[in-house]
Amino acid sequence: MNNLSFVLKSFGCQMNTYDAVRISNLLSKEGYRPVVDEENTDIIILNTCYIREKASSKIFSELGRIKKIYKDKGKNLPIFVILGCVAKAEGDNVFKRAPFVSIVLSSQKYHLLPQLLQQVIDDRNNTSSLNKRKKKLHLINTELSGLEKFDCLPPVKNSDKVAFIQVQEGCDNFCTYCVVPNTRGREVSRPIKDIIDEATHLNNLGVVEINLLGQNVDSFNGIDENGNKSNLANLIKKVALLPNIKRIRYTTSYPSKITDDMVELHKLEKKLMPLVYLPIQSGSDEILHKMNRKYNTQKYLEIVQKLKSANPDIQISSDFIVGFPGETEEDFQKTLDIVKKVRFIQCYAFKYSPRPNTPAQKMDNQIDNQIKSKRLHILQTELRKIQDDFNKSCIGKVMSVLFTDISKVDSSFIIGKNEYLQPVIVKADKSILGSIQNVKITDASYANLKGEII
Ligand code: SAH
Ligand code: SF4
Ligand code: F3S
Repeated sequence: MNNLSFVLKSFGCQMNTYDAVRISNLLSKEGYRPVVDEENTDIIILNTCYIREKASSKIFSELGRIKKIYKDKGKNLPIFVILGCVAKAEGDNVFKRAPFVSIVLSSQKYHLLPQLLQQVIDDRNNTSSLNKRKKKLHLINTELSGLEKFDCLPPVKNSDKVAFIQVQEGCDNFCTYCVVPNTRGREVSRPIKDIIDEATHLNNLGVVEINLLGQNVDSFNGIDENGNKSNLANLIKKVALLPNIKRIRYTTSYPSKITDDMVELHKLEKKLMPLVYLPIQSGSDEILHKMNRKYNTQKYLEIVQKLKSANPDIQISSDFIVGFPGETEEDFQKTLDIVKKVRFIQCYAFKYSPRPNTPAQKMDNQIDNQIKSKRLHILQTELRKIQDDFNKSCIGKVMSVLFTDISKVDSSFIIGKNEYLQPVIVKADKSILGSIQNVKITDASYANLKGEII
């Protein structure tokens, strides 16, 4: 057993957060120690995101920043590891841009990390004992191998009440702006048994809320025990049988792929939370077409209507991209119009970022950055206003809250999330941590709700 310490920093989406838990569990099993102090560690691991230019350039600035800390102190550099979507997209180029990095692995190959780390450690030991400079060892594997990693990972160790389970890897939608089909590969669903085994294990560890993850989770089609393909609704029904699991969410939905079975399940299954994350991206049919999103605004509104008729408590959250190539003022106005119609309660809005090897990068009429910034500001102001209104409309209501954290500002306050993932703060004893309570909402701001346990 070695006793080396590692710092693992994860960027990007919930897939990466899930992967980070599994990577940390894997290394801990091999005797590595997770620590948080990046200035005093043996290994630095960055689990990276490539979705927008900012996300990927941040990785290289992080590398430079951390390296400088060690250089300035005259200390030996830690072993640097790059995992995830930047690893896949940049490949060997990572070593050109940052030669001090030792290991580069795609998000489907991180189970190889212990053996590659051992190679680097052995190499370092040999190099120092021989006291001669060798060429630095650069190890790389950026293949996409679907579900292989799941067969090589130890069971999840989890002490949190909320957990993710990745149920699907990759994406086949090929939106013209998006790198995910390249960085995560083709869509493939895990077998039902594997997912239920993982969910049962989490149930037994005391997890209360499970979020089932996939980039296109409504197309889930994992095989069941009889070798037949099963859909997301059937999977959720099975997870809902686990007694400790009180709340189930699924992320991310592709609007036109939501099945009637899922709509029906929102009517019947009380454990299924009434918040549907259904990214629309734009309110203009022309832009949606250019994005290769396979729905138009009318279809989108019909799906929202179906969901709300099945369960009137349902609220919708979304992502938006502004300044997609060719987006006119009129197109942008249509986005504002649909925002006012649907009244999304939580959203992320981004300026379109041209990405390498995507069709949209080569499209005519790229939009000027100043216009993108202006549109982003207008959209965010509108989204914020609607979120604020929704939060205020909660005052006086009784909501169910899963409490998970003690306030950092004042430890007599406990924080949790309600059905709609809004943070709710109550004055209460620590003993409520981990439980779901009914809370009467007494106050609301844009950022959070306040209430009293009843
Ligand atoms: N699979 C999900 C989203 C995955 S990426 C879906 O299809 O909805 C998360 C979000 O990043 C997207 O919803 C989109 O809004 C944004 N995004 C992806 N590529 C982008 C790009 N090139 N520029 C700006 N935003 C982008
Ligand atoms: Fe990217 Fe589109 Fe797939 Fe979402 S659905 S991950 S935006 S290609
Ligand atoms: Fe980023 Fe990869 Fe997720 S590019 S958004 S970490 S799938």
